[in-house]
Amino acid sequence: MHHFDYIDGEMHAENVPIQQIADEIGTPFYVYSTATLVRHYQVFAGALTALGLDSEVFYAIKANSNLSVIATLAAEGAGADIVSEGEMRRAMAAGVPASRIVYSGVGKSEAELTFALSENVHQINVESDSELETLSRLASSMGKTARIAIRVNPDVDAKTHAKISTGKKENKFGIDIDRAEEIYARAAALPGIEPVSVAVHIGSQLTELEPYRATFVRVAELVRRLRELGHDIRHLDLGGGLGIPYTAAQSNSPPPAPDDYARVVADTLGDIGCKLAFEPGRMIVGNAGMLIAKTLIVKQGEARRFLVLDAAMNDLIRPALYEGHHEIKPVKEPNPKTPVQAHDVVGPVCETGDTFATERALPLINEGELVAFGSAGAYGAVMASTYNSRPLIPEVLVSDDQFSVVRPRQTYEMLLGMDRIADWLPADQENAD
Ligand code: LLP
Repeated sequence: MHHFDYIDGEMHAENVPIQQIADEIGTPFYVYSTATLVRHYQVFAGALTALGLDSEVFYAIKANSNLSVIATLAAEGAGADIVSEGEMRRAMAAGVPASRIVYSGVGKSEAELTFALSENVHQINVESDSELETLSRLASSMGKTARIAIRVNPDVDAKTHAKISTGKKENKFGIDIDRAEEIYARAAALPGIEPVSVAVHIGSQLTELEPYRATFVRVAELVRRLRELGHDIRHLDLGGGLGIPYTAAQSNSPPPAPDDYARVVADTLGDIGCKLAFEPGRMIVGNAGMLIAKTLIVKQGEARRFLVLDAAMNDLIRPALYEGHHEIKPVKEPNPKTPVQAHDVVGPVCETGDTFATERALPLINEGELVAFGSAGAYGAVMASTYNSRPLIPEVLVSDDQFSVVRPRQTYEMLLGMDRIADWLPADQENAD
């Protein structure tokens, strides 16, 4: 459920007309709904507590790391799951204390680990033998003890897009679950390391529960074996990954509801005696955001009708990278009599991959009209680039009838200001002789 609807013929984010934001800040831009963020967080956290699970939620800020989004969720009680020093700094700047931060990721640098240790991060999820040794060395030299989980790779097929599947043996993530006993023995023997948890994350945009069940059963067996070997495992980190509906069609057979997910957790791990940590990202923010763009050009080709928008693959890369589907709606509610026609919706970037949708049935859209991409709150703005020297676009947060620009549009000055002319080149090419 989200809070983007037509009111009096105009698409609104909560009680703010999208057109009003566009008039003030121009297009394209991302817009997020506070009410949707809060609702999704509460639905997810509530589904776990309703079943009496001793749980805590660490929002995976990679999905949307705008400081205002993190702060909104932190105010609801969310901790943060991070994968870089930059994300850790964002989480802390948004008001999440280090004691509520879990540090995941397959390749952390020594500088990043040192930073996390110096801030007394809640937990570090270790993904390799090498990382374990490095962390032990760094923690000991700093006189610290790192609370760790070993991220195990359970070799389970998450049945999602290959690029976002992480729990199979051939994926780069985690340590083979078959090696877990050996690695916990090593961790327990190392100075500066306190193994407290087992972590697992098998992929993103999961639309079935069975892969979770299979994973959690394997984790439960592992915890029992580890305890027999004397490891006092009292925490588990079960990752994120719950899918969201991207299409109206999917809404008829939607991805698993948080309640059903929680039931699988309760069935498999409810009596294990561990505090359970979760790292949802997309589920919280995905449907809490839209990308708004203007139709620059309508081009009626021989084979196709193209809508060329002012947003492009550099702003929202999911369609190009994962064949991701995002619903597209006109911001002005179409008259039911408006003819529906197949449109290819594209951006201005100079490659054919810059295509948001092919042969999408849409009410006839004209030049100058605004369109809204649904489900763009997760992995949208955070994956944007300045390809084709297109400035990063603004992000707007709405709350009821107010809105705030929570990231202004990048100026050309900022964009060009990142570069330097090499010492041996004339600083000002025009005056060079
Ligand atoms: N925990 C870990 C260790 C992760 O790697 C991820 C996502 C999450 C939690 C959060 O997963 P979520 O609940 O959001 O599914 N850019 C891709 C998705 C990449 C997901 C990466 N890891 C996309 O746009 O589909």
